[in-house]
This record gives sequence, C-alpha cells and structure tokens, in this order.
Amino acid sequence: MVSVTEHYDAYPYPERDPADEAKRLVIGSPSHPVEMDHHLWAGRRDWSRPLRVLVAGGGTGDGVVQLAQTLASAGVPHEITYIDLSHRARAIAEARIEARGLNGVRFETGSLLDAPDLGTFDYIDCCGVLHHLPDSPAGFRALRAALAPGGGAGIMVYAPYGRSGVYPLQDAFGTLLEGLAPEERLAAARAMLERVPEGHPFRTNPHLVDNAASDAGFYDLLLHGQDRSYTVTELCETLDETGWQLASFTMPALYDLSRLTGHGGDLPERARMAAAEKLRGTIKTHVAYIVAAAEDDAPSAPGTASCRQGASVPHLRGADPRALAKALQAGKPLPITLAGAAARLSLPKAAAALIARIDGRSSVAEITRASGLDPVAGASLWARIEDQLAPWGLLLCSGLYRGRGAAAAAGAG
Ligand SMILES: C[S@@+](CC[C@H](N)C(=O)[O-])C[C@H]1O[C@@H](n2cnc3c(N)ncnc32)[C@H](O)[C@@H]1O
Repeated sequence: MVSVTEHYDAYPYPERDPADEAKRLVIGSPSHPVEMDHHLWAGRRDWSRPLRVLVAGGGTGDGVVQLAQTLASAGVPHEITYIDLSHRARAIAEARIEARGLNGVRFETGSLLDAPDLGTFDYIDCCGVLHHLPDSPAGFRALRAALAPGGGAGIMVYAPYGRSGVYPLQDAFGTLLEGLAPEERLAAARAMLERVPEGHPFRTNPHLVDNAASDAGFYDLLLHGQDRSYTVTELCETLDETGWQLASFTMPALYDLSRLTGHGGDLPERARMAAAEKLRGTIKTHVAYIVAAAEDDAPSAPGTASCRQGASVPHLRGADPRALAKALQAGKPLPITLAGAAARLSLPKAAAALIARIDGRSSVAEITRASGLDPVAGASLWARIEDQLAPWGLLLCSGLYRGRGAAAAAGAG
C-alpha cells in the first residue's frame, strides 16, 4: 500500500501553482474568519485580540493562505502554525504564502497527532484530513488537546452517500495495483476506469468530478490507501467520544429534515439529521464548526450568530449584495447557487433596500436606519432575510472588518 506521505509527496492535493496567487484568492469553507466568527463566537469576537491558529494537514495551502491573507488584510494580529506530513505539499503552501508576501506563518513537517506539542490554539483548521488517519479518533483527540479555552475548529470530513461509487473502486484498485509506484498506479487505474460500465454507481454519480480535474484529483479520489467516510451519526458519536461537540454545520439546511418531509416529526435532533442525510443522498462532505464538549463548569456550544441583534455586522457570502437586491426588486430568480441542493429562496421586494447595503462593515441597526425603514419593519425584514439565507451559509455575522476600510472587507466571502 502507498502510504499517505508517499501519496501526497507524489500528488500533492489539491494541485496548486503559487503563480496563481497573483490572480486570485481561493475562498472556501471551513476557515474564512467571518464564517468562523459566526459559528464559533456568535459573531462577536473581539478581533483586536491576537488569534493563534493551527492548520492541521494544511496540504498545498488553501486554508493557510485564506487565513493568513484575510487576517492580514483585516489587520488582525495572528500567529499561524501549519503542519503536514508531506514535504512537497508544504513546499507549495510555503511558496504561496511567500508569493503573497505574508508573514506570521510557521511551517512544520509532521503529524497532527503531535498537535499538542505545537502549542494551544484559538482556532484549528482541519479540512479533508481526519478521514485519512489510520486511527481517526486519535486525530480528533490530538486536536482537542491543542485547543485553547473558548476556541473552536473548522473541519471537513467525507460523507458516504454523496461519494457513492468511490469506495468499491478504491478497494478494487487497491487490491489490483498493490506494489506499484504511484505513477504506475495512476496510469493503470485510468485505463481500468475507462472500462467500468455505465451503470456503475461511480458513473451514475454526477457529483464526483475530481478524477477528471487533475492527476492529483484522480489519485485523491480513487487511489487513496487510507480513506473512510462518516455518516452524520458517526461524526456526532466520534465528537462525543473525543471531547468535542458540534457548534454548527456550515449549511445547516442540508441536515434539516423538515425541508425534505414538510414536517419536523418528533424524532431527536440527531435522528432527524441522519434521516435528512439519507433522504438527500448527495452530501459528499460534512463541513462543520466544532467546540469543546460542555463540561460541568464550561458553557455549552455558543449558538450561531443572529443578524437580528442590532449591533451585529451582516455579510453576504457567495452573492453580490447589489446583484441580489436588483434581482429581488425586479422579481427575478435570486442569483444564488446552493451547492447542488434543489431549494428556492423567496424574499419580499422590500428586503432589497437592506440587502443592497450589506457591506461587511455596517451593523444591522445602521443599515436599517440608512434604508429609511422604521425599526419594527426593519426587524421583521431582517428576520425574513435571516431565515432564508443563514441556513444555507449565505448570511454570516462578524465584526471582522468593523471600522476598517472597504478594501479589507472586499472578498469577505
Ligand atoms: C486532501 S489533503 C487536504 C489538504 C488541505 N487541508 C486542503 O483542504 O486543501 C490531505 C492532507 O492531509 C495530510 N495528512 C494526512 N494525514 C496527516 C497527519 N496525520 N498529519 C498531518 N497531515 C496529514 C496529507 O499529507 C495531505 O496533504
């Protein structure tokens, strides 16, 4: 079997060219500071305080670059530690940070199992890594041991149903290509995939595209030697066993059973989420923010932010506020995509005046005043906006850019 280190030294994933840093910033979930604030600190973090960050299994650098660039642009004092097993992945991540002229990132080569030796952290990013550990719970435990009080983590782990077709192919390729070098495995697996028939679950699953995007994508999806997935139930049980609790998924709507059945039923929360995952059948990854499990004397999960509080600063993610407001006023479909989920958003035209003024710096109270709405009408419109957008991760609250320039707020994600 090719080890995880050999795999990512041969095919660092995702494939990235440091020269592209001059053209774009890769924005994603988890680990945009605005999103972190919304889910971990109820949108009320004091960003004048330094943030200590661990990027565990940082790979070719998407998470570390997003964090370092966003915090630097917002003028937030920070220290970031990156760790990964792969030297080659680290070299790419380092070159991307250097290309941007960013400081404040310490690079380490090693295992996240040693995270507690690196210090304690207010925020831990671990995206697409924990499901590649031979003992995944040990990874969850190591990260928990490195978490500072009041901190939290953003994780992504694979989910089984949206990856249907992947695991039979990984198993077959693993058996048939045992002992070959990574390049030979890739060539042989590509040839075999050509002959996989049309009805194979991998072929009928339209959500699996990484194999076509790059060699690294193909290898990561179909030739992994150490890969498991988590149902939402398994994820919650692992969090229970390892000292964590769920703060929120980045798109809670995906796990909301009532959106699929028309009613909530009287099942417990976890059973409802498990049924929603099975009914959807398309969830490929769970992207979640997690915090320390509540102990007798510790507060429970913070509860996500609400834009209904007058002082909170709303952000629109994945949509341009002016374009959204214009479409609303014109009665057109909202220019938003919801991660492949069939969902329709509907908002009253009057909400356009508020949405158009969302700039990542103005508070809800300020936007309401500037719109000329009275506070009662404004509050009821904000409630509608929040109910429609927040469950999809499209409306987030954070004072990250409060009092800072427009340039810093641009690209808030
Ligand atoms: C799928 S990549 C994800 C990279 C990055 N987090 C991202 O989202 O772009 C997985 C990375 O985890 C690293 N990795 C796997 N097991 C690890 C471990 N025990 N400690 C540190 N890194 C690990 C691999 O070397 C690889 O770079």
